[in-house]
Amino acid sequence: MKIYNLTELSAINMSLLLPVYEGAVLPDPFSEYNSCLKELDLEAGKLFHLLIPQGSSSKSLLLLGLGKQEEMTARKLRETIGSAIRSFKKTLCIFIDTAAWEHLSIEEAAAEAAFGAGFSQYDFTKIGSKEEKLPEISFVSSKDIDAICQDALLAAACVNHARNLGNMPSNIMTPEVLAKEAEEMAQELNLECEILTNKELEEMGAGAILGVNKGSSHGARLITLKYEGAPGKDFTALVGKGLTFDAGGYNLKPGSSMDGMKFDMCGAANVLGALELIARRKAKVNVMAIIGATENKIGPDGYTCNDVLTSLSGKTIEITNTDAEGRLVLCDAITWAQQKGAKRIIDMATLTGACVAALGKNYTGAFTNSQAFLGKLETCSQKTGEKLWQLPIDEDFHKQVRESSVADMTNCVIGTGAGSSLAAAFLEEFVDEGVEWIHLDIAGSSDFSDGKPYMAKGATGVLVRTLGEMFR
Ligand code: BES
Ligand code: ZN
Ligand code: ZN
Repeated sequence: MKIYNLTELSAINMSLLLPVYEGAVLPDPFSEYNSCLKELDLEAGKLFHLLIPQGSSSKSLLLLGLGKQEEMTARKLRETIGSAIRSFKKTLCIFIDTAAWEHLSIEEAAAEAAFGAGFSQYDFTKIGSKEEKLPEISFVSSKDIDAICQDALLAAACVNHARNLGNMPSNIMTPEVLAKEAEEMAQELNLECEILTNKELEEMGAGAILGVNKGSSHGARLITLKYEGAPGKDFTALVGKGLTFDAGGYNLKPGSSMDGMKFDMCGAANVLGALELIARRKAKVNVMAIIGATENKIGPDGYTCNDVLTSLSGKTIEITNTDAEGRLVLCDAITWAQQKGAKRIIDMATLTGACVAALGKNYTGAFTNSQAFLGKLETCSQKTGEKLWQLPIDEDFHKQVRESSVADMTNCVIGTGAGSSLAAAFLEEFVDEGVEWIHLDIAGSSDFSDGKPYMAKGATGVLVRTLGEMFR
């Protein structure tokens, strides 16, 4: 990435992307194009390719329609610029200033353009293939946008790291390999790292994650990474569901629902991406990432309906559906986070199909025991344009979760609807008094089976950037 200032504009020897709003008047040195602009439909996303003579050769000027100024948002800008970059596939310099308007400063426009560039260029490298070199994207502006663009590209790189982990097939991205990835990240970023295997989990009594793990030939891992940027202050835990594959267990998923279940570790991938972003920024905060990793499969010892598991907290759980495994892994991870001293917890999980039914693919379902805590996250998500929608938990859901004649609770309440709220209420049973907690259900927003003009299909790295904003 290179950053140019306006005085260097004429010397830039590559294609230039010039964003233009409908009805806009271009500043110098582009004012000669103002007359032709009137003829063009500058709807957001439309690209017009002009050739500018330069000495004996020529360079390209790409006019990018941005539509109506008053309809432009941060999200729309990065998607529009991202789509242009993804389709152009060549080295490009982006002129930033004309993308700004009253409600989007040049600095904000630069951050979105740079993030959009980094995010949109990502493609998963096929297994066994070599990573392709990407065309370089540069930026030009009248303002000093160097640090802003660097930071936005860092955020995109961490989001893409999470996407890469999420996109890996489950025969490669096993719980052991996920733990190795975390360990390598810890080494690179100088983080404290602790990885517990089945032996330690048995000794400490983490019976819920171990119950899920019984049908798998790969061991479970409980992974803890700690970043301490504010010594002496309380820790927040980012807890991720790391089901490297969810076949459903003995409540086997039908084939069509099993497709895509390699993405059931996207909560884990995304909390790793967020911690990486926080640590690389050297933020003055204390954050730990805790990941419960296992497969949910069928095997001779696999857990079944009517089993009773004793969780790390000591609470007992009657299994009523082996496919409701995420909450079992998470409840031990949440207890572990509190044993490690976390005073605030944000868990992220591809937890319920009901969340996809309620909110679709663009929203993440949010649940909390602290409106103030969720309010802070919502402010950050409004800034990044990653959509959250709050869903309820109340005593009625807790009552249903606690109804069991053989244990303290069941892992699945059958036939009453509101599956996402019931799952959230189950998790809240494990949150200690005085601990602020948010649960994020990313079952819909974690991955897309079709690509979009601004993004490759697959894992989205959703909320990595928002969590990075939250812990700056
Ligand atoms: N991993 C799934 C949730 C899921 C479904 C994620 C669709 C992404 C897309 C989770 O473990 C699961 O199977 N949940 C069950 C819970 C039910 C048995 C109470 C579900 O949603 O059907
Ligand atoms: Zn499941
Ligand atoms: Zn699952």
